[in-house]
Amino acid sequence: MQKKKVVVAITGASGALYAKLLLHKLLQLKSQVEEVGVVMSDNAKDVWRFELGDEDYASFPFRFFEKNDFMAPFASGSAKFDTMIIIPCSMGTLGRIAAGISNDLTTRAADVVLKERRKLILVARDTPLNLIHINNMKTLTEAGAIICPAVPSFYSKPQTIEELAQTVVDRVIDLAGFVSDSYRWGTD
Ligand SMILES: Cc1cc2nc3c(=O)[nH]c(=O)nc-3n(C[C@H](O)[C@H](O)[C@H](O)COP(=O)(O)O)c2cc1C
Repeated sequence: MQKKKVVVAITGASGALYAKLLLHKLLQLKSQVEEVGVVMSDNAKDVWRFELGDEDYASFPFRFFEKNDFMAPFASGSAKFDTMIIIPCSMGTLGRIAAGISNDLTTRAADVVLKERRKLILVARDTPLNLIHINNMKTLTEAGAIICPAVPSFYSKPQTIEELAQTVVDRVIDLAGFVSDSYRWGTD
C-alpha cells in the first residue's frame, strides 16, 4: 500500500477530542503515513483549550502550518496530498468551502482537494442543523466531499468519553483508506 500524505485541519466546532484522537491514531499508523500537515484555526485552539484544558496539540510530532500560510505545500495541487480531514468541522468553515471562499489555508486546501478530485472528509459538528447547513452539505457532497458527521455509535458499548469519540475517529480512519483494527459489527 502506498503511504498517504494527509492534511488535518482543526476548526472551532465542539469536539477537540476528536482531533486529538485522530492525531494519536495517525501516529499509531505511521507505517502507512508519508506526511501529516496540520492547520488549526484560532477558534480551534480556543475550543481545544476550553474543552480539553491543555495545549497538547503542540506536542504532536507533525508539521504545523499557520492558518494563513498559503505557501504551505497543500495549498497547491502539485504537492499531491491524498486526503484532507477537517475534524471537527464548524458550520462556518463548511459554508466557506461550499461557497468556494478560499480565504485561509484550510479553505484553500479543501478547494484544492476538491479540484484535484482527491478525498475530502468533513467531520461536521453542530446540532440542530438549519437549511443553510444542509444545503452546504449537499453542495459539498455533490462536489465529491464526504460529510462524516461527528455522531458517535453505541453498539460497540463504549465505556468512556474517549471510547465513544473513538467510534467517530475509527469511521474517519476507514473512510481515509487506512488499514486499522477497530470494532467491526458482526465479527464477534
Ligand atoms: C466552545 C465552543 C463550541 C463551539 N461549537 C461549535 C460547533 O459545534 N459547531 C459550529 O459550527 N460552531 C461552533 N462554535 C462556533 C465556532 O467556533 C465559530 O463559528 C467560529 O467562527 C468557527 O471558525 P473556524 O471555522 O474558523 O474555526 C463553537 C464555539 C465555541 C467557543
